[in-house]
Amino acid sequence: MIDDRVESPRIRTKISKIDDLLDETLFRHIDNLRLGGYSVDEFQTALAEFCKLNADDPEFVALGDNTSVENQSHWLIKRHIDHCRYSALFYHVADNEAHPPHHHHNVISTQIVISGKLHLREYERVERRGDGKLVLKLASDRMIGPGDVFQASEWSRNVHWFCAVDGPVVIFNINARGFEDKTFDVDEGTFGRCYIDPTQFDEAGLIVTEEFDAEHAHELFQGRELKEFPVPT
Ligand SMILES: [Fe+2]
Repeated sequence: MIDDRVESPRIRTKISKIDDLLDETLFRHIDNLRLGGYSVDEFQTALAEFCKLNADDPEFVALGDNTSVENQSHWLIKRHIDHCRYSALFYHVADNEAHPPHHHHNVISTQIVISGKLHLREYERVERRGDGKLVLKLASDRMIGPGDVFQASEWSRNVHWFCAVDGPVVIFNINARGFEDKTFDVDEGTFGRCYIDPTQFDEAGLIVTEEFDAEHAHELFQGRELKEFPVPT
């Protein structure tokens, strides 16, 4: 397995609107993760630092102005390295727009708020029950703003839900997909979001939920502030 990784990987760049220095720096971090030079935690720490440094650069921050309600995403890079892939983009969240609660398969993401205020809830996946339902526990419930980072990976804060509060939000996001050797769900083939409902919980704060499609998630959560839904005390 390691030998396959060391041999020249097949690299396919799908989108590249990134400046050369950023491209090289990000690629170095990503390839270090791919080759096992970083643990996932070390990678996350490095990427949080990378995002914070860039968010201090007005020229970089100005790239977020390319996003709007009409043009939700501004991609800097989309690249595949063998079966792994990564991307970096700015995206726009309209005032009171929710990204409904969802979990991810084999995704390591780092996101930094560029502008605006976001109400964010993060959850841990506790287990996949025998009946197929997912058990979750709330990990954080907070308001975040410019310069604040939130991260998700296979084994840490994999589940999140957020909504823009008091105006639109711009977020810079780096996603790395397919880099985990061991995954929570073994048979999942796709990297997409799986939507869930974390609003019912028992006295211990444990949430048991089914998964459903984006359309149903939209019906349940779109345009609704997170504070409408209580959390365990
Ligand atoms: Fe997500």
